[in-house]
Amino acid sequence: KIIILDFGSQTTQLIGRRVRELDTFCEILPYNKFPVGDDSVIGVILSGSPYSVHDPEAFKVDLSQFVGKVPVLGICYGAQFISNTLGGKVEKADSREYGRANLETINLDNPLFKGFEKGSQVWMSHGDTITAIPSDFEVIGSTKDVKNAAFASTKQPVWAVQFHPEVFHTVQGKTLLHNFVVNICGSKQEWSAASFVDTTIAELKAQVGNDRVILGLSGGVDSSVAAVLLNKAIGSNLTCIFVDHGMLRKNEFQQVMEDYKVLGLNVIGVDASEKFFGDLAGVTDPEQKRKIIGRDFVEVFNAEAKKITDAKWLAQGTIYPDRIESLNITGKVIKSHHNVGGLPKEMHLQLCEPLKWLFKDEVRRVGRQMGMPEHLITRHPFPGPGLAVRILGDITREKVQILQNADDIYIRGLRDYKVKLSGEEARKVLAAGIPADMKDGEIEVSLYDQIWQAGAILLSTVRSVGVMGDERTYEHPVALRAVTSTDAMTADWAHLPYEFMAKVSNEIINKVRGVNRVCYDISSKPPATIEWE
Ligand code: XMP
Repeated sequence: KIIILDFGSQTTQLIGRRVRELDTFCEILPYNKFPVGDDSVIGVILSGSPYSVHDPEAFKVDLSQFVGKVPVLGICYGAQFISNTLGGKVEKADSREYGRANLETINLDNPLFKGFEKGSQVWMSHGDTITAIPSDFEVIGSTKDVKNAAFASTKQPVWAVQFHPEVFHTVQGKTLLHNFVVNICGSKQEWSAASFVDTTIAELKAQVGNDRVILGLSGGVDSSVAAVLLNKAIGSNLTCIFVDHGMLRKNEFQQVMEDYKVLGLNVIGVDASEKFFGDLAGVTDPEQKRKIIGRDFVEVFNAEAKKITDAKWLAQGTIYPDRIESLNITGKVIKSHHNVGGLPKEMHLQLCEPLKWLFKDEVRRVGRQMGMPEHLITRHPFPGPGLAVRILGDITREKVQILQNADDIYIRGLRDYKVKLSGEEARKVLAAGIPADMKDGEIEVSLYDQIWQAGAILLSTVRSVGVMGDERTYEHPVALRAVTSTDAMTADWAHLPYEFMAKVSNEIINKVRGVNRVCYDISSKPPATIEWE
């Protein structure tokens, strides 16, 4: 495996995903937790960081743990740290170097740059610059403004790049990582969806044997894929529980139950909406709403789980990004997320998490490998508290219904609206595993499949005047949100076509009673978040 040491960069997870795309297993660990003595490590990558190497609180690592033992690649801060520690020099750049640059000189004989083209575009984002490299290193790539953009040791297998090979805008970034991971570190590229399915089913059989397993389903990709894997491993010894809190999308509960039935899963559906609406009545504070829903959810789930008296395991669709120990540099809680929480202690259940090593795109690949329907696999993420965090102010059944209707028009519209893509854009969509046929250099995909997540928000604390026919209206606006993202940590608002927005806005206002205005949310994250509450 490859170890990625995290110094707090926003793109650390992306490095992990790129390495996995090379069918190579990797682990992301905090910078100070290198697994000394683990023979399965074949290489180390040092990530970027929000700090400068000169900051007193900068994260430092003892390089002798791995330098000279396995190949090492430093990226951005990683490169600066290597330079600074081994005798080079890092200084504040006159201005922040940000954006596209080209490798104007490049040593094509260096194994890191095998297959590169002169002038290859790279992406920079750094405030410090490396003004001198350590003495036994040589420069292997420079841009117009950054002389020491890439350098390598002449004595040991150590490489350092100031730019970010993991981001999309570094055009040959994948080639660079392939050169490092496969050619230099010698990965055998044995990590794939097919091998994952086979080995995981065998492992699950060995792990749980003939025991009964309970699993909480949410309708989302992760828990659904976990359930299908377990179903393949242990069949009828798996019991799934799907709690309806009443704030799912329109008809979602029924549809998802139907999907699960077709997949052969044994699912108990629980309608607990009375309890949730009762406990939420009159509550307007976002954090309080989240807390109540989280608490109720655990209560309902546990009550149902306790009925299955011979259960020994609780399975969850936890995926790798949920578990990566984050450095949490600010230490502040922005939102208290809830998933299927807390085990009923007195049941003494053991935890089974078959997807715990997978990234989201890998979960989707595994789902496809097992033949799950595409609409379940490409489903957008949906928050555990559901539409409750998309209704400002207090929550009532009536408001949920209004929002469900508006949201339904929006989401159906996104699915039905097809766009033609070519070149880089098409490449990006295909790389994400979305099935589309290339015809004359073009692919056709829906807007839905092009974006990370979308939904409508009911601004029920706001009212505005409108006119419908000859009547004055005084009703609520609905905000539409659609974002592009790779991990929900950062997100950009999706640039949806005006023609599409016009159509959807019209349909919502005409068909949804209680709504007389539609707005589009053009905030990115940060500083906004994806959900409104
Ligand atoms: P924010 O709003 O923090 O959302 O930018 C980031 C991602 O997390 C989802 N989300 C949740 N998911 N339980 C979940 O399982 C929650 O309580 C929750 N709150 C937000 C959100 O939809 C987005 O994908």
